[in-house]
Amino acid sequence: MQVITTVNELVEKSAAARAAGKRVGLVPTMGALHEGHLSLIRRAREENDAVFVSVFVNPVQFNNQDDLVKYPRTLDRDVELIGDLADFVFAPSVEEVFPTPPTEEYHFGPVEEVMEGAARPGHFNGVGVIVGRLFKWVDPDKAYFGEKDYQQIAVIRELKRQLGVRAEIVCCPIVREPNGLAMSSRNRRLSPHEFETAAQIHRILEDSKLLPDVPEIKRFVESEIARVPEFKLDYFEVADDQTLQTVHSITDAPGIMGFITVYVGEVRLIDNIRYR
Ligand code: PAF
Repeated sequence: MQVITTVNELVEKSAAARAAGKRVGLVPTMGALHEGHLSLIRRAREENDAVFVSVFVNPVQFNNQDDLVKYPRTLDRDVELIGDLADFVFAPSVEEVFPTPPTEEYHFGPVEEVMEGAARPGHFNGVGVIVGRLFKWVDPDKAYFGEKDYQQIAVIRELKRQLGVRAEIVCCPIVREPNGLAMSSRNRRLSPHEFETAAQIHRILEDSKLLPDVPEIKRFVESEIARVPEFKLDYFEVADDQTLQTVHSITDAPGIMGFITVYVGEVRLIDNIRYR
């Protein structure tokens, strides 16, 4: 595996791989890798001949400066973890990716107007900016994303449609800690006590699957989260898994999921669950 830091090298290496008839896989990340990322990279390794992993903490997708500053940066360890699972790790500087401030302006429609899009203005445009550039530079056959960021995948599908990108978007299941907490780079900011407490988010969502319909599910999840002093609920929505619009009954759409965002102390965690 080779670490590359310039866009020119990235474009050259991926063009050479494609010219040699190789199937090219791309796994975009912001580093601070955990088993969730590694599951994406392993899948990319299985399904492609040349695997590119990007490690870049993208400043334009952070609407909160404090979050950007505190985002863990662990490149040496990331490179060690990736090892031979990838052929190239693209780890550029901010100046390399954004020699001038980005001007792309995306409108992803209803899928970006709810939940994370509503709570974090500009966030999905920032994701679109970096993922759009990576698609252009690498031109992968397949690109891999984790379902913890389910709404992000819906936005990226729309980005693909708008840019006419040929890559297949591959969604990979959430990987959980042994206590059930969804793996996230942010988990390392939790204290040991918060880490154990945060496991209740998944437990509450699992228990809510036993309830008959959306009003009961909403009441249950909101009240159970409120009982935990360390938690502050940002939102809990039950929504159509395609349009991401709120539903009021479990029969409103063929696919229905719950989406939650909770502050555990100062750390904002997201998770989701499928009801139907
Ligand atoms: O999911 C992430 O880690 C980021 O949003 C992504 C897709 C790597 C873009 O910076």
